[in-house]
Amino acid sequence: MSHVCHGAPLASPAPSSHLRPPVIRRSKTAFLLAFLLLPAAFMTRAAPPAKAPSFYATPFERRPDFRTLVALGRALFSDKALSASGRVSCASCHDPAHAYGPSNRLPVQLGGASLDQPGLRAVPSLTYHQGIPNFQEHFFDNDGNDSEDQGPTGGLDWDGRADSGHEQAAGPLLSPFEMANPDTAAVVAKLRTSANAAAMRDAFGPHVLDDPKHAWNGLLLALEVFQQSPADFYPFTSKYDAVLRGQATLSKQEARGLAAFNDATRGNCAACHISQIKRGAFPQFTDFGLIAIGVPRNPAIPANAKPSYRDLGACGPLRTDLATHDEYCGLFRTPSLRNVATRGVLFHNGVYTKLEDAVRFYALRDSDPARVYGKAGSRRFADLPEKYVANLNADAPFGGKPGDKPTLSEAEIADIVAFLKTLTDGYVAPARKDVASASR
Ligand code: HEC
Ligand code: HEC
Repeated sequence: MSHVCHGAPLASPAPSSHLRPPVIRRSKTAFLLAFLLLPAAFMTRAAPPAKAPSFYATPFERRPDFRTLVALGRALFSDKALSASGRVSCASCHDPAHAYGPSNRLPVQLGGASLDQPGLRAVPSLTYHQGIPNFQEHFFDNDGNDSEDQGPTGGLDWDGRADSGHEQAAGPLLSPFEMANPDTAAVVAKLRTSANAAAMRDAFGPHVLDDPKHAWNGLLLALEVFQQSPADFYPFTSKYDAVLRGQATLSKQEARGLAAFNDATRGNCAACHISQIKRGAFPQFTDFGLIAIGVPRNPAIPANAKPSYRDLGACGPLRTDLATHDEYCGLFRTPSLRNVATRGVLFHNGVYTKLEDAVRFYALRDSDPARVYGKAGSRRFADLPEKYVANLNADAPFGGKPGDKPTLSEAEIADIVAFLKTLTDGYVAPARKDVASASR
C-alpha cells in the first residue's frame, strides 16, 4: 500500500505579484458557507435528503453572521468552564500564541476531571486546516490529467477520523483525557452558567440554551466557524509567502534548503509536503495523504509503558472504522509544515522536540537505523508489528540499506531547517536601508 505523492520538484518559486488568494475547496466548507449565506427557511427546505437532518440546517431562532460566530467561537475556544475540571479549554492545548499547538514540549497533555489523565498523541497545530478534504480511501486530485488514485487522504485528527470541525470538536469536549464531560447534556448545563451564555443567546436567539440540541449544535458551529477564520488560522503571512508574492527573497541558506526540500533525489519533501503554487492557491505544505513513515516509538508517552499498546493510526485503536484494513496500519495524515518551527513536539507521538532531529530522521531511517531506533536498530519500527512494515513508504528520502550514504548531509539538514523557519506566520520584512535612511 503506497500513497502516490504529486509534488513535482521545483527549483525555485516563481515570484508573482498577481496571484489569486488561496482557494477554499471542500464540501463541508460549502455547507458552512450555505449556512452563513442562505436564509434559514431556505436552508431547512433545501437540505439534502439525508438520514439525519443536516447539522447546518439546525433551525436556530437567529442566524448569526460570520463575524458574530467567529467572535463567539473565539470566546468559547478559551472557555475553561466547559471542561469537567474547570481548568482546561481548547486553548490550553491549542495555544493561539503557538500556532494553535501546545505551548510546552510534552509529547502528550494532561486532561480529565482532575487533570491527571495523559493523552495518547501530540497536539497538532490547528493552522491551515481550511483545505483538508473529507477522509476518502481513494482520493483523486481533479486537476485534469492528474487522476491517479492517491490512496487514503484527508479528515481531521492524525488518523483522519473526523470529517468536520463540528464533528471533531465533540471529541475533546467528551474525551475522558481531554475536557472529560460525561455527555452533551453536561456540556450544555455548563454552557448555561458560563460567562458566554449571554453571547450564545445573542448569537442564536434567546431560547437557544433551553433546547439541548440547539445549544450543543450552536457551540460546535461557533467553534467550527472560528477555526475557519482566515486572519487567525490561515493568514499566509510567512516569509515564504512574501517570497511567493515577490516581496522578499530567501537567504542563501534558506534557498539551498528549499532546493534540497524540493529535489526528488535528496529531501523529496515536497512530494508530500507540497511547496509550490497550485491552481493559483498558495501551497499548504501537505497533500493531506495518510502515509506510514515509521517514526520511532516514544517511551515518554505513558500508554507506551504497556508493550502491547500500539498507535497504528488509520487502522486503530483511536479510529475504529478501518480496523480490518491491515494495509492502513501505521498511516498518519501528512501535516502541514506551515508554522512547524513554532512546535515543541513533532510527529503524531511527539518523539522529537527539535526540527533538526525530525529532518535527520528522514535522512537516517534506512541508512543508519541504529542511530534512529537505538542499539543496532533492534527496536526498529518498534511501533509497527513486523507484518505491517511493508506499509512503510520507501521513496526518497527513504530507501537504501544500512551503511548507505544518507540522502541528506548534515549541512543539507541544517539548510532545510533554515528553510522550514521561513514558514512561520507573522513575518515582518526588515526595514529597507534606503527607506530608513531617507526618513532620517
Ligand atoms: C487536552 C488537550 C486538548 C484539548 C483540551 C483539546 N484538544 Fe484538540 N487535539 C488534541 C490532540 C492530542 C489532538 C490529536 C488527536 C488525534 O489525532 O487523535 C487534537 C486534535 C484536534 C483537531 C484536529 C487537528 C488536525 O490536525 O487534524 C482539532 C480541529 C482540534 N483538536 C480542535 C479542538 C477544539 C475545538 C477543542 C476544544 C473544544 C480542543 N481541540 C481541545 C488535544 C486537545
Ligand atoms: C512520503 C510522504 C512524506 C515525505 C516524502 C516527507 N514527509 Fe514529512 N511527514 C509525512 C507524514 C505522514 C508525517 C506525519 C507522520 C507521523 O506523525 O507519524 C510527516 C511529518 C513531518 C514533520 C512533523 C510535523 C509536525 O507537525 O509534527 C516534519 C517536521 C516533516 N514531516 C518534515 C519533512 C521533511 C523535512 C521532509 C523531507 C526531508 C519530509 N517531511 C518528507 C509525510 C512525508
